[in-house]
Amino acid sequence: MKILTLIASRRSPGNSEILAKQASAGAERAGATVEIVNIAAFNIAACEGCLACVFRGKCREEDQMGMLVEKLLKADGLIVVAPIYLLSPASIIKKVMDRALMMSLYADELAEKQRGALTITVAGKSDWNPIGMEMMNQFALSYGFPVYNFMEAYAPGPGEILLQEETMLAVDLLGEGLALYLQGKTEARKPAANQCPFCYSRSVRLLGNNKIQCPFCLIEGTLDQNYQINVSQEALEHAFWTPAHRKRHLEDWIKATRGRYMQNRDAIKEKLEKYN
Ligand SMILES: Cc1cc2nc3c(=O)[nH]c(=O)nc-3n(C[C@H](O)[C@H](O)[C@H](O)COP(=O)(O)O)c2cc1C
Repeated sequence: MKILTLIASRRSPGNSEILAKQASAGAERAGATVEIVNIAAFNIAACEGCLACVFRGKCREEDQMGMLVEKLLKADGLIVVAPIYLLSPASIIKKVMDRALMMSLYADELAEKQRGALTITVAGKSDWNPIGMEMMNQFALSYGFPVYNFMEAYAPGPGEILLQEETMLAVDLLGEGLALYLQGKTEARKPAANQCPFCYSRSVRLLGNNKIQCPFCLIEGTLDQNYQINVSQEALEHAFWTPAHRKRHLEDWIKATRGRYMQNRDAIKEKLEKYN
């Protein structure tokens, strides 16, 4: 059982690094082999939008993303820890997530084994971390890891998290829990009534009347008078990040847009002249 631990902070020793290492220690105790890497130190280019990943099966960029994808594909479990900057996770998280389009090619492979993620954010103050957990869960899902559990930690100064004994014990147990989950010995966290039942998001888009959509996995449902989220089983099965939907998205949308683009290419070229 392999777990890949990603740190998304350049601060060392930082709170993310400490939490990542403690969660990893807990996972190792429960039998996992853990590899820890700091993605904030990686050479990762921004997605160019060329779609070579899905049409040619390979990204054109010669950076460290290929190596990271290999590690992500081999891993059964993921621990990912990021600091909150300006109300959301540090930008390397989004940069790597933008490159996850290619994971649609591996949808069958991803569905074959029990995979799971533990996501952790560390922010200075609880009022200032409104969508950190949501974005981190989206990151894990984009690489094919259903969320086992998440932690929202708070400590402003470097290493200050070490003064919170309860948090350090909790993160250790969460790491252990992830390893047990991957062995089928424990269950994923139960979403609360105000959370998306697929990705745990506490944010919703109000679609009118009592209809809502989760902005992080796109499932639709309703909100009752007690602000409880209700989602049908069918909607759950069609969440954006399920392997089945990833495959449909690749075949029926991404690949289909190519034919339409090729048909319109000359007309676009003509109109483009004045923008050159
Ligand atoms: C540029 C910058 C922006 C930050 N923005 C937020 C923020 O929006 N909300 C918050 O609660 N903390 C914010 N913080 C505090 C960090 O999240 C906090 O210090 C965290 O422990 C950093 O984790 P690290 O030690 O792993 O780097 C910010 C820190 C920096 C350096």
